[in-house]
Amino acid sequence: MMSTVVPVLFIQCLLSILLTTTLAAPITITRETFRACRPGSWAGIPSDCCPPKVIDGPIVDFRPKYDASKPLRVRKALQCLSGHELQTYLRKLEKGYVLMRALPDSDPRSFKRQNAIHCAYGTGSFLQDGSTNLTIDVHLNWLFLPWHRMFVYFHERILQKLLGDPEFSLHFWNFDNSVTATPRHGSRGCYKAGHFVPPMYNDPSKATFEANRSFMTFEPNRPWTCRSTSRKEFHFQRPSLRSPTVPSRNKRAGTEKSCTAVGAGTIELVPHNTLHAWIGGWMLQPITAPIDPLFYPFHANMERLWSVWRKLGYGNDDPTDPDWLNATFLFWDENSVMRRVRVRDFLDLNALGYRYEKVNDASWIFFDNSTSPRAP
Ligand SMILES: *[C@@H]1O[C@H](CO)[C@@H](O)[C@H](O)[C@H]1NC(C)=O
Ligand SMILES: *[C@@H]1O[C@H](CO)[C@@H](O)[C@H](O)[C@H]1NC(C)=O
Ligand SMILES: *[C@@H]1O[C@H](CO)[C@@H](O)[C@H](O)[C@H]1NC(C)=O
Ligand SMILES: *[C@@H]1O[C@H](CO)[C@@H](O)[C@H](O)[C@H]1NC(C)=O
Repeated sequence: MMSTVVPVLFIQCLLSILLTTTLAAPITITRETFRACRPGSWAGIPSDCCPPKVIDGPIVDFRPKYDASKPLRVRKALQCLSGHELQTYLRKLEKGYVLMRALPDSDPRSFKRQNAIHCAYGTGSFLQDGSTNLTIDVHLNWLFLPWHRMFVYFHERILQKLLGDPEFSLHFWNFDNSVTATPRHGSRGCYKAGHFVPPMYNDPSKATFEANRSFMTFEPNRPWTCRSTSRKEFHFQRPSLRSPTVPSRNKRAGTEKSCTAVGAGTIELVPHNTLHAWIGGWMLQPITAPIDPLFYPFHANMERLWSVWRKLGYGNDDPTDPDWLNATFLFWDENSVMRRVRVRDFLDLNALGYRYEKVNDASWIFFDNSTSPRAP
């Protein structure tokens, strides 16, 4: 019995390795991906968010270039904005959202259409090219961080365009910082705690407000059940989307299993998923999350944490696999031109023209679970 089973298993293994190797390829979104888009679903909830099936006009490669002659824009921590700077930012951001919401649905830059594209990429609406049943998802796998950086980047460019201000930067929600600290000698930045909903996003009179939220008092340390692995060890786990032979929907484990969800790095699971769940309302589902403007400063901070994670040591580094580096997506830019965007072009913030304000990362890195002070 053993003598036949073992060789058969061996051959099966070998075959699957060979097949995986030959079929492994970066996820690539093309005109055909859009044409084949179909209603999707998330956790059993149906979605219907396909963009128009035919992409009008050319698809233009997006290649950022570091321009040393231009100062980097700074995405700042929202909790440290004050006075004139805060007033100016608030006025612009509000105006930007009023304009974005006023765009017709036919405009891919509209607030609604931006939500829809996140929905399509996140609910299995797109099929992998040449497949009839393998879907694409930008969650719970190694595409999560770079894809969301791209998404926020184009959102920011659209705001810049609508505001006629190419220097406008989308500031971030420093939710991981629960301790007001004294900056180390000589360092400038924001060292105030930021673990509460930024007031401008919590004021019903503002265009940045969203009523459909269910959060309670912000206690970010509470709902995190994977706490022990969340600080030092959040990482990219092995991808399960790199091979077109692996159905991407298989990574969508139930929320209760999220701490071991295959494919996701813990940075995605915690704090990302827990924070989405904590905010609730539209934020609860990838179908609707970007309807809440809070999504954008939240995700700006997520990508900032990616850089923090890389600096921590423990061998943390980005994958070098070409299946990751060459993964290619399509996004409409601020001029409604379709851009072909590769992961490898979204790893260097300097080339993208911005940086993050320095904040108190120690609160995150040297986390202890002392109870957090309430928001001021
Ligand atoms: C997907 O389609 C292929 C080819 O038709 C088939 O072999 C495979 O079983 C299908 N997988 C699923 C999950 O339906
Ligand atoms: C709030 O968001 C959820 C999606 O998570 C949606 O099902 C619900 O209809 C929304 N409620 C309102 C009042 O808009
Ligand atoms: C990935 O992209 C690089 C640079 O464009 C190219 O040289 C390489 O052949 C690509 N590899 C794969 C596996 O697509
Ligand atoms: C942190 O929380 C864990 C679990 O609730 C507890 O066992 C531990 O004593 C706490 N540590 C500190 C420093 O409070």
